[in-house]
Amino acid sequence: MLKSSKSLYNNISEENRLYRPQIHFTPKAKWMNDPNGMFFLNGTYHLFYQYYPEGNVWGPMHWGHATSKDFINWTEHGIALYPDELGYIFSGSAVVDYNNTSGLGDGDSVPIIAIFTYHDPEKEKRGEEGYQTQGIAYSLDEGFTWEKYQGNPVLSNPGLKDFRDPKVIWDEERNRWLMVLSTYAETLFYRSENLINWKYVSSFGKDIGAHEGVWECPDLFQLEVNETGEKKWVLLQSINPGGPNGGSGTQYFIGGFDGEKFTVDRSFKKQLDENGAVWLDYGRDNYAGVTWSNVPKEDGRRLFIGWMSNWNYADKVPTYEWRGTMTIPRELKLRLKEDGSYIIKSLPVKELFNNSDLMYTLKKPLKTTICDVSKGSFESSIVFKISLDDLSSQVYTFSWSNNKGDSLEFGLDNVSETFFIDRSKVGAPKFSDQFLTEKLIYELKKQYKKLALEVVIDKTSIEIFLNEGEHVFTEIFFPKYKMTQMSLFSDKEFTIKNLKTYKIKSYV
Ligand code: FRU
Repeated sequence: MLKSSKSLYNNISEENRLYRPQIHFTPKAKWMNDPNGMFFLNGTYHLFYQYYPEGNVWGPMHWGHATSKDFINWTEHGIALYPDELGYIFSGSAVVDYNNTSGLGDGDSVPIIAIFTYHDPEKEKRGEEGYQTQGIAYSLDEGFTWEKYQGNPVLSNPGLKDFRDPKVIWDEERNRWLMVLSTYAETLFYRSENLINWKYVSSFGKDIGAHEGVWECPDLFQLEVNETGEKKWVLLQSINPGGPNGGSGTQYFIGGFDGEKFTVDRSFKKQLDENGAVWLDYGRDNYAGVTWSNVPKEDGRRLFIGWMSNWNYADKVPTYEWRGTMTIPRELKLRLKEDGSYIIKSLPVKELFNNSDLMYTLKKPLKTTICDVSKGSFESSIVFKISLDDLSSQVYTFSWSNNKGDSLEFGLDNVSETFFIDRSKVGAPKFSDQFLTEKLIYELKKQYKKLALEVVIDKTSIEIFLNEGEHVFTEIFFPKYKMTQMSLFSDKEFTIKNLKTYKIKSYV
């Protein structure tokens, strides 16, 4: 039998040494899933998250809290929101209510309002309808302590089984708040003047998108198109199961929003895959991600973080002391493609490199068949940027490995015109039948003569950003021994145009 609650290793320090992420946020102890309520204020990025402080599997949900000023060094704080008689505290968002529209401010400090889902387990057990409602809480000390609003819930359930994960944004054009909320297979839109009284305005998604599971954790925001400066609306919509590789995944839609209705661009529809969707990440481990609110206009970035796991096996991954890791924070951008359609590009936030040592730079282009990308043994987390040229109809394989037989392979297959990730040779004992180790194959549908990769590797994760983030693959893996070396090889000569290898300082 597979053991889910006992460490595969003999003691916690061994587990920590092998598996504790160095540059990704993990709680010191116990279970974490979705990122929640992220906002920026006075130089600090706040991250809340679904948290169960008493176990290393999912349980009665709280909001945990961590902050960072640079996206690498995280400080964990006390629990922000506890379950109460209305239920567990499920996912949601937070906004800075500058104009005190909620009336919850005290006149001295600007109120932060968290909007979350109450999940009533008792009602659910009794088989009653409507056990998910929306509640709010407010903080008058920049997010460190919270009071629940006395009049909760602020949005009761209209008779839907799944009715959760409110993301609230300020609608600048119409001077009011807007909420997107997920139900079984749709996104619902609500509006409010004061964050307390909500009015239903529209729904989206019945006839588009993937529908093999439950829609969860939506996000809505505007992005400027890099090439033209025009603005488009983007809707993120996670789904579980029904992701591109089974289990959890996050789809997105690009279009317009008129204050009431979200409509997808005609050109966007060209890109839908066989599931009727376009995905933010084609790896198996980026779920329920949403973006930070209140990032200053002068900064202008749309900043994202996701939960680096998959509901198919999240509660079985072989860490015992804690379970759950966030992705590296990413910046999302919109790009206009040659065929007139738009795509989201994601790249790691630039702050990642502030805390880094540049370990190696290639001085001039190198023609080769093999390359020691990490330049010897690497004891820490590694980030590298590499661009390849003169590629032919060959397979280009990267291998992140140790000298004891563990190896994570990924690369470009220019014969089958695919990108692949293979975690089948990463050696931890099997912990879940659902943790698929078979090769993940993504169809690029063309041969690449050039390729640029940015890759972030931590103890148990790899995040691959292809061609400036046009395609992203996030995967977790559990080696038996520490991984230390990155190499790249092919059968025929190719050119390495650029290579930069960085060591990012660990925060743990
Ligand atoms: C997504 C999710 C949300 C829900 C939360 C519960 O991973 O299922 O829909 O609010 O997790 O922890």
